[in-house]
Amino acid sequence: MAADALILGSPIYFGNLSADAIAFLERLLFAPYTYSQDNLSKFTGHIASALICTMNVSEALMQQMDYPTLMKRYTQYMAGMLRGPSEWLAITDTLQFSDYGKYMSSIFDPEHKARMHAEKFPEDLEKAKELGAWLATRG
Ligand SMILES: Cc1cc2nc3c(=O)[nH]c(=O)nc-3n(C[C@H](O)[C@H](O)[C@H](O)COP(=O)(O)O)c2cc1C
Repeated sequence: MAADALILGSPIYFGNLSADAIAFLERLLFAPYTYSQDNLSKFTGHIASALICTMNVSEALMQQMDYPTLMKRYTQYMAGMLRGPSEWLAITDTLQFSDYGKYMSSIFDPEHKARMHAEKFPEDLEKAKELGAWLATRG
């Protein structure tokens, strides 16, 4: 609660944040929680926050599966309890396996995955850096 900013990173597991990430948010956000009508959070500070989710689906499939709504829901909780702005960033088409040949994974095209990792992932890292810069100024 004394932090200037919070960045939570989580893989998407079965269409949700990881169990660890959810447990962390439950503990963190419930601590200042009240059931008062006029004031849901006892926390008086302001923490800008961000959620970064990695996932192996493509950008198009992410939209189709409505993951943005999921991430938005969690950032709304973060914004409400931490009383600061909250943004999310999705990192799609991750390289889940270093060697796809070792696993039963025929739904993936290893060449496409390698290309995404070489070309898209560096751009994703830039977006994460921009998000960090935004947090540093808003925080
Ligand atoms: C148990 C499990 C469930 C997963 N479910 C999804 C899923 O529902 N959607 C998706 O896009 N990726 C899914 N993935 C892929 C992970 O999101 C991907 O591996 C992760 O973003 C990369 O981080 P990691 O190296 O920590 O696994 C799943 C991975 C695991 C291990």
